[in-house]
Amino acid sequence: MTTVGIDAVEIWTGNLKLDLPGTFAPQKGEAPEKYTKGLGLNASSFPDSYEDIVTMAANAAHRLMDRKGLEPDDVGRIDVATESAFDNSKPVSTYVAGCLEQVYEGDFHHANKGERKFACIAGTQSLDDAYNWIRAGRNRGRGAIVIATDTALYARGDAGEATQGAGAVAMYIAEDPDLVELSPEQGYGSADETDFLKPNQQFPSVDGKRSVQVYLARMREALQDFESVAGDVHPDDIAFIPFHTPFPGMVRKAGLLGYRYITRDTAIEEELAEEIGRQPREEAFGTEDDYHEAVREYTDALKGTDQYQEWYARTIDPTLTVSREVGNWYTGSVHIARISAMKHALENGRDLTGETLLVGSYGSGAQAEIHAETVCESWSEEIEALNVDEQLAARYDMSWEDYEEVHDAHNHEMDVDVEEFTTPEEEFVFDGWGRMGERK
Ligand code: CAA
Repeated sequence: MTTVGIDAVEIWTGNLKLDLPGTFAPQKGEAPEKYTKGLGLNASSFPDSYEDIVTMAANAAHRLMDRKGLEPDDVGRIDVATESAFDNSKPVSTYVAGCLEQVYEGDFHHANKGERKFACIAGTQSLDDAYNWIRAGRNRGRGAIVIATDTALYARGDAGEATQGAGAVAMYIAEDPDLVELSPEQGYGSADETDFLKPNQQFPSVDGKRSVQVYLARMREALQDFESVAGDVHPDDIAFIPFHTPFPGMVRKAGLLGYRYITRDTAIEEELAEEIGRQPREEAFGTEDDYHEAVREYTDALKGTDQYQEWYARTIDPTLTVSREVGNWYTGSVHIARISAMKHALENGRDLTGETLLVGSYGSGAQAEIHAETVCESWSEEIEALNVDEQLAARYDMSWEDYEEVHDAHNHEMDVDVEEFTTPEEEFVFDGWGRMGERK
């Protein structure tokens, strides 16, 4: 059976940068450490006034096609995942195809296009759709372009404002991939929740604290469901766990939950249980409160152990490097975490070939998905070809006044005209509806 997975990936960051400890913290009257240590963020990417979800998606896809030598005829599907869409009917993928058709000889008339929505998990759902389409044998030798693109902006003054971000991740899904092969097993945790909503509004209504709890609850269910089909996961058998990363502080909690959960019933758990007290099990406690108290005590103790800290430093921390500098890219966030981990391995001379990634995706509303990926032989060439650091370094560092202006420029309810802070070079730009995607 041929393998199916991610053949190549490219990112496009919003061209502006908001420095959280240096620019944001003083304005909010907060200590810089709240952002750098608490949330785990140094900066967030922000779209310049000529950028939006279409331009960032088209720019990432163009870079991907260019680098891999792909022509429109190689692409049988273009799926865009976003929670920042501006059109309830026409999918963003059609706008993106329109942009790309300006620079390629052929067109994408033959390609199936769509738009996926389920908050941040939609990027992974689109990946799954592409995988299933190829596995079903409907692809006629073609691959799929999957793009996760978002402007994760919150209303000014909202607690979420510190966790904004903007960027796109484009992936080519194909047979015999060069980057990672997807496993057929998946685990889900899904429930009707109202922790984060955008009912016909641009900025989210979010219950931040609850959203953290909902994330952890659904992720635990997904892990449990994954193990029911894939068998017990041992923490040492996983190279990295790229989690959905709204901010790295969230992943600190998810990493601890993941470790606590997957070390159940294993030798490590027994060792730890002996050292710090037994693993709490619901049925062994009289009341739910007693149980939750025991879980809290156990988890706090676990956090301090050398085993856990060593595992976290090796398996989770390397997934957060890029996120710390760009903030939340919603649908693209978990896919940045994968890149971040693989980039870390490359920079440290580690060969990942054949190793396993456990990918933890999450979307508010709410659903978590766990699946495994096996790293392919050519992974290092793929990661080496990326220019993530150059893109991040090239961003314009905004003053507070710049930030307020450009935030207003992106606010659909305001009609303000704002200067461009950066000069677009060989990229698609948003220049009014009539000239959407014109290439400057
Ligand atoms: N030094 C070190 N740490 C500090 C500090 C300091 N001076 N000051 C505060 N901190 C720590 C706090 O202790 C806290 O850490 P813990 O959670 O580990 O206790 C952390 O910094 C954040 O501080 P607060 O909780 O006080 O921050 P806040 O209330 O202003 O906002 C938030 C936090 C609720 C997560 C907010 O950023 C938010 O609403 N974000 C948007 C929603 C979100 O991202 N939710 C995540 C789950 S939902 C999801 O994943 C989908 C999605 O993409 C949105």
